[in-house]
Amino acid sequence: MKPINVGLLGIGTVGSGTFTVLRRNQEEISRRAGCAITMTMVADKEVEKARSIVEGLASVTADAFEVVNNRDIDIVVELIGGTTVAKALILEAIANGKHVVTANKALLARHGNEIFAAAQKQDVMVAFEAAVGGGIPIIKLLREGLTANRIEWIAGIINGTSNFILSEMREKGAGFNDALKEAQRLGYAEADPTFDIEGVDAAHKLTIMAAIGFGIPMQFSAAYIEGISKLAREDIRYAEELGYRIKLLGIAKRKPRGIELRVHPTLIPARRLIANVEGVMNAILVKGDAVGQTMYYGAGAGAEPTASAVVADLVDVARMLTADPEHRVPHLAFQPDRLSNVPILPIGEVETAYYLRMRVYDKPGVLADITRILADLGISIDAMVQKEPHEGEDQVDIIMLTHQTVEKHVNAAMARIETLPVVAGKVTRIRLEQLN
Ligand code: HSE
Repeated sequence: MKPINVGLLGIGTVGSGTFTVLRRNQEEISRRAGCAITMTMVADKEVEKARSIVEGLASVTADAFEVVNNRDIDIVVELIGGTTVAKALILEAIANGKHVVTANKALLARHGNEIFAAAQKQDVMVAFEAAVGGGIPIIKLLREGLTANRIEWIAGIINGTSNFILSEMREKGAGFNDALKEAQRLGYAEADPTFDIEGVDAAHKLTIMAAIGFGIPMQFSAAYIEGISKLAREDIRYAEELGYRIKLLGIAKRKPRGIELRVHPTLIPARRLIANVEGVMNAILVKGDAVGQTMYYGAGAGAEPTASAVVADLVDVARMLTADPEHRVPHLAFQPDRLSNVPILPIGEVETAYYLRMRVYDKPGVLADITRILADLGISIDAMVQKEPHEGEDQVDIIMLTHQTVEKHVNAAMARIETLPVVAGKVTRIRLEQLN
């Protein structure tokens, strides 16, 4: 088979990792793909830097459109990121009949439906293993390895930066701001870390996994998103005392009336394997009806781990080039005309357990007032702790863990508890999942 020519858009961390891995493992890769896969053209605004990376082995241009319009390029690898220029480039590459490999989770979560429809029309492939979980081949697993299953739920630690911050807070007792500074010092968090710490990056990845897992269109705008920036270190400590760890989880769950799609800090039992995933590592649990629970663990970011996913896609596309388009694995795992329109449930309809912390005046009848409100709303208490007051203080923390209940009832209970004169300030609420 003739060599496959690849054009790369953006030779930053992942781009240079991809170039390096393709070059270093070219022999192994061509034995697998059945042909040579060569990066012949690179576009990057920093032309000199790009030249120093490719060392004359590819032509370099500052104009990415030159790559997507070049007749000799078979596959375009988009590693620019963002949802504007990258979208225009991908759509133009597709219009030119080129296959696309991308790591751009924001773009696919927000505009994936449009991009896949365009690709289907042109009979080209858009592969995106690197968009979720870095080097963990979770897309392949969901789309192919677990294809026999009805997927029941997916729950993942899919943002390494926030997981690192939570590990720092738990292990060192650090506050959120100090832990974030440490993540930035080590180069994990971006200078503007909003997407990582506010759960947006995780929601992009969750949206993509849910689409493939359940055969639904991308519905990022319907996802519930809550990040970790407001987590207090005492909640991490109290959770630990109760046998739980707090993780930023992306959860997609099939329920009788729709699909839960949510990213938020979550208490999980400390004895679960996934609770022990620390630092920048990622892990994803998938529950299928036939296989049961499975877990996938690995580096969720970084040059070569992410390149591992990009190159796997290149090999996949190379192998499928000669297949009839209708015999290829569908972009979203399910046939495009068989996607389901099952609704995403609003967060008020989500059913889970809760950790509630409230500061109360240490007086007779306080607990009775609070538990009456919970009972009125049908919320059952699973465990409860009252902490000793700090020296000289007349307020104490009460922590309650509830059984599973519907979120709107918890919202109503919190609103009523906050009006009690014996309760100081707001109730802290963190969702809790047993993951069993
Ligand atoms: N910023 C992401 C993270 C990595 O912290 O996990 C890229 O998806």
